[in-house]
Amino acid sequence: MENVKHEKWSSGFIFLLAAVGSAVGLGNIWRFPYVVAENGGGAFVLLYLGIVILLGIPLLMTELSIGRMTGKAPINAFDQMVKENDVKAKPLWTALGWSYMLVPLGILCFYFVVAGWTLNYVTGMVMGDFNGITAEGAQESFGAMLGNWKTLIFWMTITLLITIGIVSQGIKEGLEKAVKILMPALFVIMVALVIYSSVTGEFLESVKFMFTPDFSKITGKTIMMAAGQAFFSLSLGSAAMMMYGAYLTKDISIPKMACGVALADTSVAILAGFMIFPIVFAHGMANASGPGLVFEVLPVIFTDMPMGQLFGVLFFLLLAFAAVTSTISLLEPMVALLEEKGYKRLPSAFIVGGGVWLIGVICALSLNVLQDVRLLGGVEALKDKNIMDIVEYFAANVFVPLNGLFVAIFIGWMVKRSTMIDEFNMGDNIVFKAWKFLVCYIVPIVMIAVFYDAAIGF
Ligand code: PHE
Repeated sequence: MENVKHEKWSSGFIFLLAAVGSAVGLGNIWRFPYVVAENGGGAFVLLYLGIVILLGIPLLMTELSIGRMTGKAPINAFDQMVKENDVKAKPLWTALGWSYMLVPLGILCFYFVVAGWTLNYVTGMVMGDFNGITAEGAQESFGAMLGNWKTLIFWMTITLLITIGIVSQGIKEGLEKAVKILMPALFVIMVALVIYSSVTGEFLESVKFMFTPDFSKITGKTIMMAAGQAFFSLSLGSAAMMMYGAYLTKDISIPKMACGVALADTSVAILAGFMIFPIVFAHGMANASGPGLVFEVLPVIFTDMPMGQLFGVLFFLLLAFAAVTSTISLLEPMVALLEEKGYKRLPSAFIVGGGVWLIGVICALSLNVLQDVRLLGGVEALKDKNIMDIVEYFAANVFVPLNGLFVAIFIGWMVKRSTMIDEFNMGDNIVFKAWKFLVCYIVPIVMIAVFYDAAIGF
């Protein structure tokens, strides 16, 4: 059954909605602001932008085209390309295919937990739990939620079930319908919140914080964090983009789509910064940091706002939906792979989801019952990380960039130039040459340097 034909996206625009839906998620709104804060602000943001342009866009083009050329899930996609291009070292590329297949499942394990937080905050907002809350109160209530494993597991399970429900319906009936409703809504609410936050908060201080680079803050570790965050945010190194590329028809321009996705995703990340930091500075919450940042800051915004409770409900609901447009792209590849092997979507989605759920539960417990467990306590750089931090760290900061490195080597050095010129359908022009140069040299050199530096740090 290896030649099962998958459904295709109805149009280029729908693909864009879905791909931006995958890219825009907790990574932009929850993770980006706190990673920026932890890594020194402006210098990190500049690095991030550089990495998106020089590494992110070429890799997006690469992954989308591998998907479209083969029309298959990564493991089968690499297999087919190895055959067609007569590529050496086959086991290495098979391993890369598996790494691509497994990374999204690793991401899902912690992603569902955080997506669950957002749903929990929706109900909290509806019940008025946050009305009149102070900055300290918000920090406390976030801590209390983390301490309650039943709540965490309950909401995580709900997000998982929603994701399974959508993915089991397939592309046109499931994914497309979901993104058509959720993406425009998310965008409108987000813009409104940014305007509100910038007008009432310390906008200028935030601009300074995000764009004044202090280059002394840039170390090998910062570059690694920026690359990890950029790749994670663009849904690279994780099968999502490859799979979405597999559903793309031939008439659509991959370079244009890649630029569109990168632009939208990066804009949302920066906007998220402008939504969070003005309020952080205005309320003297600079000590709010780490994964709790958004959850500790936003309830305070809503308290001050006219119709804040309503806005709060909407915001956290939409944040949960933004998470869901990402989780569907994380679950889809494995379900599609099983479909290629002849299995039906619904049972596949339940079985894969069930596996993810088990590890997700351990992640959720690592925030409370198992909070003192340090799997890698012996490693200096990781000794403070609980189980969920470790899963996040390895998935987002190690395996995602590693996949990016190897896919660049694969496409740049193993696959025929003419194959790629045909695929991008624009001749051997300057855009093609720039792409080729970036994947052949810049991506590998930067990534190897980053990994080398990180390895020394251990
Ligand atoms: N890009 C998503 C985000 O920023 C996360 C994600 C990673 C989704 C990898 C799919 C694949 O939240």
